[in-house]
Amino acid sequence: MTGFWKSLSRPFWAMAPMEDVTDTVFRRIVASVGKPDVCFTEFTNVDAIVYAVRNAQKSVLELPVSLRSPGSLRADFASIPALQRLYFSESERPIVAQIWGTDPQKFYEASKIIKKLGFDGIDINFGCPVRDVVKIGACSAMIGKNSQVAEIIAAVKEGSKLPVSIKTRIGFKAIVTEEWIGFLLGQGLAAITVHGRTAVELSSVPAHWEEIGKAVSLRDQSESETLIVGNGDVKSLEEAREKVREYGVDGVMIGRGVLENPAIFNSKPACRSGRFLILNRTQKLKLLNQHLKLWEETWGEHKNFAAFKKYVKVYVRDFEGAGELRARLMNAASYSDLRQILG
Ligand SMILES: Cc1cc2nc3c(=O)[nH]c(=O)nc-3n(C[C@H](O)[C@H](O)[C@H](O)COP(=O)(O)O)c2cc1C
Repeated sequence: MTGFWKSLSRPFWAMAPMEDVTDTVFRRIVASVGKPDVCFTEFTNVDAIVYAVRNAQKSVLELPVSLRSPGSLRADFASIPALQRLYFSESERPIVAQIWGTDPQKFYEASKIIKKLGFDGIDINFGCPVRDVVKIGACSAMIGKNSQVAEIIAAVKEGSKLPVSIKTRIGFKAIVTEEWIGFLLGQGLAAITVHGRTAVELSSVPAHWEEIGKAVSLRDQSESETLIVGNGDVKSLEEAREKVREYGVDGVMIGRGVLENPAIFNSKPACRSGRFLILNRTQKLKLLNQHLKLWEETWGEHKNFAAFKKYVKVYVRDFEGAGELRARLMNAASYSDLRQILG
């Protein structure tokens, strides 16, 4: 059950799941200027998936999401927040659905649904440190709860028959890489993404890449064939390659770096700088326009205008006059205002 993971050429580059950011629209825009080797959905609650599908039209599960007409996608998916997160297109493959929750039965049911929707894999979130999920015992609060975790992994495998991966941190309060990753390596997982911080560290200290290196050594000393993906603070493919050389990871996942350079996964040398592709002003504004168009086509009235505005700073940065233009765009009151300012 290692599926597409084993056919990725190594090292590979993954785009990190980022809630309210990496929806299908953003993933497609990023892929259009530099395709990551693997993409993840935003994390999606298993109870919400099961509830949404139970109450949705029967047609929700009739076809893989990516093979639907835009009309049927809109009708079945766009108005339901949990299902918005599970929207994807063929151009995003391989695409992995990331899920979270606490109840193994709900993980099982949600995994069956995800398989039917046509995903290439399922990733379980055992890393999110946000208070609301931790207080119900989910995500990073599961670190070290080995029997519960084993039950959830088994439920997801049985429900989906897809390759299962985990995204996690190196501990909750204290660093426990050896115990925790050591345990996960015995669970027959296709991949483990290790974000090199504890949950309580949030993002406030530099990622402990030496702990990610330790996870690789643990894997190498074991019988496990699980791929190790390193994550934390990587801002370019050059840096990602350095991490591969230094720590031996099979792949690197990049999150916030994509928000500073959406073409971060494009390894073609840029004409003049001889470095990795960095978009110029014209290219950035063109991409913002394309993002706006695809966003409106995909979500229509189902996502609000304010939710779109957070993307402005992804494109309107690092060129002369960017600050002033960004301020004007952020003051726009409607999509047509935005379009007018962009010209
Ligand atoms: C806005 C935002 C939303 C995030 N949402 C998720 C999520 O849904 N699932 C997840 O596993 N991690 C999530 N993360 C964590 C990232 O996937 C990643 O682990 C973290 O940003 C560290 O990587 P980076 O230094 O490359 O950004 C989120 C991070 C940010 C900044």
